[in-house]
Amino acid sequence: MDKVKNTSSLADPAALAQLFDQREFRHALSTFTTGVTIVTACSTVDGSEKLVGITANSFNSVSLDPPLVLWSLSKSSHSAAVFETADYWAVHILSHDQDGLANRFAKRGIDKFAGLTIERGLGDAPLLSGCTTRMQCKTTYRYDGGDHIIMVGEVMHFDHSDAPPLVYQRGNYAIATRKELTDEAEALIKVTTSGRNTDTAASNTITPLLGNAYFQLYDKLRESGAQHGLNDTEFFVLNTLAANEGLSLAELMQLFVYAGHSPLAHVLDDMTVRGLLHVIVDQDEESNNGLFYLTALGHDVAQKIVDAGKQIEADMLSKLGEVDTIALRTLLRRFVNP
Ligand SMILES: Cc1cc2nc3c(=O)[nH]c(=O)nc-3n(C[C@H](O)[C@H](O)[C@H](O)COP(=O)(O)O)c2cc1C
Repeated sequence: MDKVKNTSSLADPAALAQLFDQREFRHALSTFTTGVTIVTACSTVDGSEKLVGITANSFNSVSLDPPLVLWSLSKSSHSAAVFETADYWAVHILSHDQDGLANRFAKRGIDKFAGLTIERGLGDAPLLSGCTTRMQCKTTYRYDGGDHIIMVGEVMHFDHSDAPPLVYQRGNYAIATRKELTDEAEALIKVTTSGRNTDTAASNTITPLLGNAYFQLYDKLRESGAQHGLNDTEFFVLNTLAANEGLSLAELMQLFVYAGHSPLAHVLDDMTVRGLLHVIVDQDEESNNGLFYLTALGHDVAQKIVDAGKQIEADMLSKLGEVDTIALRTLLRRFVNP
């Protein structure tokens, strides 16, 4: 929009054409979120069989009856000669973990099928596996579309899976996660804050949400610690040493304070007496204080807690589903490593 400086020229096509900025146009188009496909075909060119495949996000549905789909092929594509003669082509709607494949089929001058296991479909078109959906199409129309050819095909056969699809948004691969409807989100905030604070902006802050999520998860883990006779602090010691053995008292104290636990040395003594920990004193160390390790019993209890933790996490994440779990992991990683 800001490319059109003088609004009086809006009615003048020649003036508008001059103001048209190709890069901005691409940028504007990239705001339209799409899936990602690879379209493949096979044809005989100059007497030899040629397999082609191209990453395309211009794919779209056209008609249900007859079942028609379209995509547009750049006239400069190396694969153009094959698509212009092939009677059939296959569209693969990629699944969320196939971004590597999308990059491979967006490259020129490489053997895109090298090392891939393919089947052959209608018209011998190569069929890739692991996709969300595959459609085998008969070429129905080819239209001229500027620097592209609009390929319309009738879907003769298709198969699909539950694998979440790969998404393309503003030049990046993405995943699609279900959005909370704005009304729903506002209603939820009112319920969770019991009307105490109906200021949406304040209730929408991330810190209490993260804290709440952490405590809900940690509470369940703590229960599993209690089942093994461990109080909060002991549970923390066991977890810490399971992940990072051979810590000195000073190092443990530092972690205790950081995590909000009371820095009590007698907890360590007590756990040592109960056979969960043992101390190894390094004679060369000046301090002579020793380092804390888990005993075989300590490892056994820690493993049981880890297993219970995995189950608790799996139960919680099963409520989110595959895509939201990936989205949560992605966002948390980005949050922790900005
Ligand atoms: C996400 C994405 C979407 C693309 N969509 C299209 C498209 O719809 N049509 C097209 O001709 N090229 C598209 N391309 C570019 C081609 O994949 C790329 O030019 C490829 O190298 C062509 O291969 P070829 O020259 O071997 O045929 C896209 C690339 C990416 C990364």
